[in-house]
Amino acid sequence: VIIASNFKTNHTRESTKEFVQTVSDFVDLQDIKDEVLIFPSAPSLDAFVLPSNVSIGAQNAYPVKSGSFTGEIGSQQLDEFGVKMLLIGHSERRHILKESNALIEQKYNFYKELGYKIVFCIGEPLEVREKGIQEVIDYNLAQLENIDLGYEHLIIAYEPVWAIGTGVSATKQQIEQTHQILRQSIKAPLLYGGSVKVANLKEILSIPNVDGVLVGTASWNVEEFQKMIAIAKEMK
Ligand code: 13P
Repeated sequence: VIIASNFKTNHTRESTKEFVQTVSDFVDLQDIKDEVLIFPSAPSLDAFVLPSNVSIGAQNAYPVKSGSFTGEIGSQQLDEFGVKMLLIGHSERRHILKESNALIEQKYNFYKELGYKIVFCIGEPLEVREKGIQEVIDYNLAQLENIDLGYEHLIIAYEPVWAIGTGVSATKQQIEQTHQILRQSIKAPLLYGGSVKVANLKEILSIPNVDGVLVGTASWNVEEFQKMIAIAKEMK
């Protein structure tokens, strides 16, 4: 099982350090075998000492080693901290930062070439969900159109936009149906994201074709995140 935390624009450098240390100690002490992924904000990235099944990734990076791209970070900055994992295509970057599919593809191809583990996010807005399952699938597959799905270090996160940060996750039936159909095209691990929390994690992880979760809000408190890791462990 993969349990991932997306910090978004939360935590400072100091509190990130504490969080990563606490989670690492917990993973060692509890003998956790599941994969734990943590995506801090860019200024909080660092060369952390981690258990082998805990990884630190960037929430965003520009498809370049270095250059003139004000406000962006490139692979050289990530190399300094040994970061080899990246989140690409998150809905907040697509919708708020207006990232195009073309830029997302460029990022994917660049960081794939460098061997990064890539958590690639897809997900439909509410108006698409309201049109029915076929439109939902078409929309999500279109986001994957020029993405090499055979890449060995690829993880896909299905995050319906309407379930992100709303406190209301997709229903068990919606997740089950969507993942089942997506699974026909996607062999990579398939995560669900969107208002995952301690209270619904067990149910979500028990759904067929859900290989893990990508958690925002409910993961920012380290005790809650530890509870989620513990739930994942119990479910084996
Ligand atoms: P929430 O868990 O806050 O809904 O966010 C999900 C998400 O966007 C993770 O990438």
